[in-house]
Amino acid sequence: MENYKKIIEDIYAEVKNIEDIGTVANYIPELAFVDASNFGIHITNTNNASFGVGNFNKKFSIQSISKLLSLTLAYKLEGEKLWDRVDVEPSGNPFNSFLQLETDLGKPRNPFINSGAIVVCDVLLSHLKNPKEDFLEFCREISNNATLNYSKKVTQSEKDSGFRNNAICNFIKSFGNINNDVAPVIDFYFHICSLEMSCKELSEIFMFLANDEFSTSKGNKILSMSQAKRINAIMLTCGFYDESGEFAFRVGLPGKSGVGGGIIAIHPDKYCIAVWSPKLNEQSNSYKGMLFLEKFTTRTTSSIF
Ligand code: DON
Repeated sequence: MENYKKIIEDIYAEVKNIEDIGTVANYIPELAFVDASNFGIHITNTNNASFGVGNFNKKFSIQSISKLLSLTLAYKLEGEKLWDRVDVEPSGNPFNSFLQLETDLGKPRNPFINSGAIVVCDVLLSHLKNPKEDFLEFCREISNNATLNYSKKVTQSEKDSGFRNNAICNFIKSFGNINNDVAPVIDFYFHICSLEMSCKELSEIFMFLANDEFSTSKGNKILSMSQAKRINAIMLTCGFYDESGEFAFRVGLPGKSGVGGGIIAIHPDKYCIAVWSPKLNEQSNSYKGMLFLEKFTTRTTSSIF
């Protein structure tokens, strides 16, 4: 970690001063209230050393990064049958696209686009007694962090503007790939998206994808080696929607973004790093977040390639 600290500080100072050509997401009105100048980084490594700069302790809306947590829980509960419901192929399309759903007969391309995450929510709803409470409890347990919570304001804002997600869910149900009623599936999906975490919390909660044992800091095993390999592989190929190739090309790590401007990236056996900068590029990924991570893996020569 010691050799990373100076590099992180240097890149932080450099990227902070670069003009941000992105824009804050406003299609969910509540997200537009964020202070766009926030910029934070936090890294946790497999020796439990950690380091942060900027606004790394401030909670923000993690949005689609939570799709990684819902996928993890659904994979644990449903096992390999999960892949009958959702595929593992890059979509090459925006995260909220309908295009392929028609020809793919309602089977989403992957669990990280909205359609795939909605099917994952349906799977969870069929397994969990109290889905919202149980999912939150799962997140609190694996992070050993009782402060994790949904944002009521963001959930409501997503509901008020959620015409497209409702339509996606109805469309998939018309093909028979949603088993529960649309309303509770979508309500659960909006809650999951509204989870709030800081960069520090993000880099800690996802250590189970980076360490050898695929376990929490307390030693609880979350996934088998094969399951962790598969989730990391889907992150590498699908974590950034129609910019997944570009992220692999520039950063070279499995990762996942959210429209709140957060990105997490995993170096298996080494570390988990989280970056937050709210302004997004045209593919809805954090502009400065990607820039920071590109410089970070280049200067530390720590990509997986
Ligand atoms: O459903 C939505 O559109 C948002 N709650 C989540 C989208 C998202 O974060 C995609 N990310 N880049």
